[in-house]
Amino acid sequence: MSKKEADIINDDPVANMSVVEVESYISAMEKSALLYEERNFDERIEAIDFIEFQLIGQIEYLLQKDHQSAGLLSLKGRADNVKCVLEAVDISLFKQLRENIRTGGQRGTQFKSLVKKYVGFNLEDNEHQGEPGYDNLDIFINGLFPFPFMPEQTKNLEPGMVYYQKTPARIVFELVEKSQFNKDDVFFDLGSGLGQVAILVNLLAGIRTRGVEFEPAFCNYANDCAAELNITNVAFINADARQTYYSEGTIFFMYTPFTGQILQDVLEILRAESLHRKIKIITYGPCTAQVALQSWLHFAAPQDTHIYKLGFFTSL
Ligand SMILES: C[S@@+](CC[C@H](N)C(=O)[O-])C[C@H]1O[C@@H](n2cnc3c(N)ncnc32)[C@H](O)[C@@H]1O
Repeated sequence: MSKKEADIINDDPVANMSVVEVESYISAMEKSALLYEERNFDERIEAIDFIEFQLIGQIEYLLQKDHQSAGLLSLKGRADNVKCVLEAVDISLFKQLRENIRTGGQRGTQFKSLVKKYVGFNLEDNEHQGEPGYDNLDIFINGLFPFPFMPEQTKNLEPGMVYYQKTPARIVFELVEKSQFNKDDVFFDLGSGLGQVAILVNLLAGIRTRGVEFEPAFCNYANDCAAELNITNVAFINADARQTYYSEGTIFFMYTPFTGQILQDVLEILRAESLHRKIKIITYGPCTAQVALQSWLHFAAPQDTHIYKLGFFTSL
């Protein structure tokens, strides 16, 4: 790998580049066979980011001083073109991977190995997360999902309901890794948003999963994604989590979908369910502290209520 390729991939800050330097970066990327190989997803993401925020940013900065510069306009065209070609590699990669999922391949450890082939991630890093940051694993999983645009919200949330924010994908991987599901488990994501958690848990663990979501547009989107990927044992229910049935559920996940009295009401419903069978609750975000106060739940790591660590609870 040339020094230029290494700089691009390492995303070294390159402030105040000259036109010659910008040109040499673009030229290096045009010639780099490595970036166009499908398997080098991580490197391509860094390169696309570098083109967008460093190279095109720098060219646009220089163009502000010299609007008519044919050289700069031509460089911008080349940078845009490299970015388009790199993005096209990913589009074709994801199309192929979606087809594999649709036709029934890639479940469980196979799915995990497939992801690991393209994205380097280390679940141990989650131990050090101070906030729910997103990374290349999220970009990869977003790419796998069939519909890139988020639907518009159609209903106003009530006080205590939390707006949509996705659980980072590596947290979902960690959840599956640590949960030791059995094949009869039914996993519920309460406040399932666009459905990524329930779909990923199904792909990674092969168990039945359900999502409960207040916003109908999100719920439709999630069901459409599952149908498009031909995943049959995942379903999304459009309901307020206080007004639905959980009789088949054994594991309930919450990425703080609601707070205060709504959370307490839902916990009361789950407590009633726990009188019929043992259930598990897994939390992420600030709701962990409130769930930890429930006397009917055993908290696996009570000393560890960091809001951006998963909380694992079992009914007594
Ligand atoms: C923080 S997001 C979590 C999304 C999803 N679980 C994920 O991790 O990708 C919270 C979601 O809960 C939904 N929500 C809020 N209150 C709800 C309620 N009472 N019943 C069902 N869903 C609710 C919101 O619309 C939002 O999509």
